[in-house]
Amino acid sequence: MPIRTVATIVGARPQFIKAAPVSRALAAGFKEIVIHTGQHYDYGMSEIFFTEMEMRPPDFNLGVGGGSHAEQTGKMLVELERIFNAVKPDCVLVFGDTNSTLAGALASAKAQIPLAHVEAGLRSFNRAMPEEINRMLTDHVSTLLFCPTDAAVENLAKEGITQGVHRVGDVMADALFFNLKLARAKSNIIELLGLAKGRYALATVHRASNTDDADNMRSILRAFGDLSSQVVFPVHPRTRKMMNEWGISAGSNVLMIDPVGYYDMLVLQENANCILTDSGGVQKEAYLVGVRCITLRQETEWVETVASGWNQLAGVQEKKIIDLFENWFPRGARAPLYGDGHSAEQIFNILSASLK
Ligand code: UD1
Ligand code: UDP
Repeated sequence: MPIRTVATIVGARPQFIKAAPVSRALAAGFKEIVIHTGQHYDYGMSEIFFTEMEMRPPDFNLGVGGGSHAEQTGKMLVELERIFNAVKPDCVLVFGDTNSTLAGALASAKAQIPLAHVEAGLRSFNRAMPEEINRMLTDHVSTLLFCPTDAAVENLAKEGITQGVHRVGDVMADALFFNLKLARAKSNIIELLGLAKGRYALATVHRASNTDDADNMRSILRAFGDLSSQVVFPVHPRTRKMMNEWGISAGSNVLMIDPVGYYDMLVLQENANCILTDSGGVQKEAYLVGVRCITLRQETEWVETVASGWNQLAGVQEKKIIDLFENWFPRGARAPLYGDGHSAEQIFNILSASLK
């Protein structure tokens, strides 16, 4: 049987982390072509992850960074069609819910190439989020839908999608379990920033509904400034740009730093007294490392972190964020909600069986 070619599409920070374990698993039986759309392009938002996790550099980089949603998605679509015509992959693999995911999904569906979606079935039920549109459309043209959770499988069933659905666990858990020890050995971020373990909070903010609304950003930064703890805040470039534009500054207890690599991030998360975030991936990682999470959104796709009692949805209200930080201290066991760290192998097995 000829070796099958899988075209993996990545573009944004979380997708490099998700792709790492999957690419490692695919190496056992597929030829993999990695296409980087260029959606994220700064060294600290892209290349650092390839270097740290010893991933092969992408075979193609489309250089489509910045611009509006239509510009990004449209340019990616044109370039992907060209590459698919040349490479003729047997399957296209997309991750998560970014514009790179949607462009990959549309290009693949139009070219009638089987599409596999990793992290299928997630829903926030908020269609104002660009990610919600990306998720829904991608799922509806996918051939194989790799769901991380039971909730994701149920969401798909409610939309009439039951064929090709596989609950495989979460590849971000694979990445975390694989890299945590390495991160502890390699990162010196705690010493570098002069932090005391357990004595600082860790914050990330990049969701459009927060960064693109001056009132929301002001409220979040005021809350950070009023916490009775140091706050380490690796700032997404989008967030820094908008804070500059609006002249929003941070309190003296807030340490704003550039985005960090995955190893530093894992170590920062593990040793934080609390994580405050609007990131999807960071909510899950907080759960996995057993640190309470205050989510700076009204809703989440990762509903089981909330049900478990380790994640609270605070929105952006200053008072609510401060109140949770000072008074809410979850305890209790954490069930293995996101699998045992071997989701990528399951994906490999299912792909192998279906691409025979
Ligand atoms: C994107 C995803 C979001 C995901 C996030 C992960 C979409 C619609 N959004 O949001 O789902 O959670 O990535 O981090 O796909 N920028 C830089 N350098 C970079 C990358 C971005 O300066 O390396 C700046 C640019 O000004 C750019 C802006 O950030 O225009 C927004 O980047 P973009 O990729 O469009 O969206 P994100 O907010 O990163
Ligand atoms: N992350 C990182 N450095 C940072 C911030 C985040 O390595 O400065 C990692 C984080 O550990 C997680 C992923 O990036 O694995 C989450 O990506 P992001 O928050 O950008 O996007 P989302 O998950 O919300 O789509």
